[in-house]
Amino acid sequence: MQSRYFAAKNVFIDSVDVEDYIQLGSSVSAYEQLLHSIEKPLKMILVFGRPGTGKSIILNQLYQNQKYKKDIHYFEAPSASDREFFHKLFKIITMSELPQNTEINFSILIDYCKSLRGSREIIILLDESQLYSGELMERIRLLADTRVIKFVISLHKTDNEELIAKEHFQTRIWEVIELKNGSIEDVKNYIHKKLLKKNLFEIANTIRHGHIKTLYKLTKGNYREINKLLYTIFELYEYYDKNEPLKINYADFSKRIIEMAGIKLGHIHV
Ligand SMILES: Nc1ncnc2c1ncn2[C@@H]1O[C@H](COP(=O)(O)OP(=O)(O)OP(=O)(O)O)[C@@H](O)[C@H]1O
Ligand SMILES: [Mg+2]
Repeated sequence: MQSRYFAAKNVFIDSVDVEDYIQLGSSVSAYEQLLHSIEKPLKMILVFGRPGTGKSIILNQLYQNQKYKKDIHYFEAPSASDREFFHKLFKIITMSELPQNTEINFSILIDYCKSLRGSREIIILLDESQLYSGELMERIRLLADTRVIKFVISLHKTDNEELIAKEHFQTRIWEVIELKNGSIEDVKNYIHKKLLKKNLFEIANTIRHGHIKTLYKLTKGNYREINKLLYTIFELYEYYDKNEPLKINYADFSKRIIEMAGIKLGHIHV
């Protein structure tokens, strides 16, 4: 029989699935700001934050909730080439397929967009924008200037973030939405809700405030780090459950296993 820790471990595989969206303090305020922003006459909206703060899941959530209400489209990651990107965009703008082997004339596309002013408002959600080339971002800017397409640009916050902002958007009207790591309360909700969703009540109940405090300290409230840590913890639990069950106190979450996982991931140095 599969150890129940196997199921617990799999809860924390890092993936973006809107079905699993949880209303966490950090994400709710960013989401509401985003919802508000797309109603404003902005050309560009920037969503930024460190890796693992929940940018992709928020963009997905927005897309799912708005797709029947608005002309909204989600671009998960940059296309293989700029050409492919424009083909995808062409299809959205003109609502028709471009014949194969046809090149897009960018200035005609811009003119076409201008002709749609007042009749359509397209929203494009661009995730992982740090991977788009400068040249492409420049063209995105020009498309945004037509005011027919609004772009939501999601960007990793890195050390050269200012550089990216300066290069591409300096003169553009835009709003900035920042995603931060979760608070202790968010971490608690995140872990408990994820486990409860899979009916792992008993395990969730053993994780108490003291444990959450330690988990928060180790991960600083970064959801990706929480996933990694919890995955490793339950991997260790799974091992003991199968091989040395006498070493587990099933009624209490193990501080020692948290520590072992922390060491394994390099959060704790010995
Ligand atoms: N509000 C939330 N509800 C449920 N899961 C969340 C939430 N926020 C973050 N997560 C989870 O945390 C992990 C990291 O989130 P996500 O991938 O959205 O981060 P990101 O900011 O897009 O990171 P990157 O910059 O590396 O792309 C994912 O597994 C995601 O499902
Ligand atoms: Mg992402």
